[in-house]
Amino acid sequence: MAEKLIIFDTTLRDGEQSPGASMTREEKLRIARQLERLKVDVIEAGFAASSQGDFEAVKAIADTIKDSTVCSLSRANDRDISRAAEALAGAKSSRIHTFIATSPLHMEKKLRMTPDQVFEQAVQSVRFARNLVGDIEFSPEDGYRSDMDFLCRILEAVIKEGATTINVPDTVGYAIPELYGEFIKTLRTRIPNSDKAIWSVHCHNDLGMAVANSLAGIKIGGARQIECTINGLGERAGNCALEEVVMAIKTRSDYFGLTVGVDTQQILAASRMVSQTTGFVVQPNKAVVGANAFAHASGIHQDGVLKARDTYEIMRAQDVGWSANKIVLGKLSGRNAFKQRLADLGVELESEGEINSAFAKFKELADRKSEIFDEDILALVSEENLSHEKDTFNFVSLSQRSETGERPHASIVFNVNGLEVHSDSDGNGPVDASLKAIEKHVKSGAEMVLYSVNAISGSTESQGEVTVRLQNSGRIVNGVGSDPDIVVASAKAYLSALNKLRSQSDRVMAQG
Ligand code: KIV
Ligand code: ZN
Repeated sequence: MAEKLIIFDTTLRDGEQSPGASMTREEKLRIARQLERLKVDVIEAGFAASSQGDFEAVKAIADTIKDSTVCSLSRANDRDISRAAEALAGAKSSRIHTFIATSPLHMEKKLRMTPDQVFEQAVQSVRFARNLVGDIEFSPEDGYRSDMDFLCRILEAVIKEGATTINVPDTVGYAIPELYGEFIKTLRTRIPNSDKAIWSVHCHNDLGMAVANSLAGIKIGGARQIECTINGLGERAGNCALEEVVMAIKTRSDYFGLTVGVDTQQILAASRMVSQTTGFVVQPNKAVVGANAFAHASGIHQDGVLKARDTYEIMRAQDVGWSANKIVLGKLSGRNAFKQRLADLGVELESEGEINSAFAKFKELADRKSEIFDEDILALVSEENLSHEKDTFNFVSLSQRSETGERPHASIVFNVNGLEVHSDSDGNGPVDASLKAIEKHVKSGAEMVLYSVNAISGSTESQGEVTVRLQNSGRIVNGVGSDPDIVVASAKAYLSALNKLRSQSDRVMAQG
């Protein structure tokens, strides 16, 4: 029988470290449920010691998820490890993932520690963690740029202390597939007790090789766990993309000879949920989950696919969830059908009041848009979730005027802590005028570093989904808003980003 490859998803931890991708507890819980439906083996739910918010999110996920192991990251110190264990206490199956940097550069310049001090701290932390949880993962951060002799010494010692998984991060995405594969192989060959641990790969995508490096770590190095994120979300160029690596292992099982437990039909739903929640749009030509991934524009290809699908397709669109892209509800749909659809999508609203208010929004949307897709419902509910958190700013209404040869003008009404504010402005275009009208009153001084519009479900009848990324005092947040009117979607996205700027607390970020 083929050996199983462990899929370790770190969307909620390493993915969330991407500037602007921070998520609320509810958003994380919703994504964790989808990851459980996707049947990933391990969910890295966060970094419990980094903030009270992260602690609560890890705890909520640990208390809820039953079919995947729930993991928390922790630096190699007793306080972080205790906090991780505390957050994970309610989990059916839990893991502590502790790390310390081992490359000469990181030890000297970042930690200001000698190799011997790092060695001691790693060993002592694994010993401490091992008394709290049975499943311990250890990562030598910037492992790929570390000295081989030192790495062998430290990894042998932590395995002896009880580390059950050894993860080898290419923290800065410097590796080349063949070399990374050989690196893992050398470690496994040279470390005498290497067979007592499962070996794991963790690759960043700075040179666009995270997936290739991870696969080489499996094939050449013999690793049996891959760390990855949905849509490759993550700092800088991101992490290894789950959908790509999983489909590579499945599609080329003739070459890899491994199996994965992932339910691939849930991939697209996971991709959309992560993209809508974080505002990180998926590029159309992205492998597996991009809008064009299975679209055949050229006549020759279309003709070939119609005659025999495998002339131009190596995977079936349905196998990664594309068939789920169907009309689900319309304006005649009732509350029960809506509630059932929410449950199918993994959305749990906490009270009847919340369901009623989401249903009212659904009806409003269905009056303006005849076909309501899953994406529309997810967008609607993510807005719904945001407004639960006692937001400072809430959209009420907008009118704008634009005409060829005239300078556009917008008048907006929004709530600030429950008080209605009216503001207006002109601008270069209707969106510019609307956002200027908001800023005229709020005076946040934030700099807009990204503005993007995306059609949620294809046609011009679709809702527009707008992402606004704001930067202020060193903090970066993404706001997402959706509406059939893209000017309104833009105003909602801007207000959502302002809310996040207000609520985001400072957190300790892990490197990488
Ligand atoms: O990239 C990295 O080194 C990490 C570690 C914290 C595992 O994410
Ligand atoms: Zn990382």
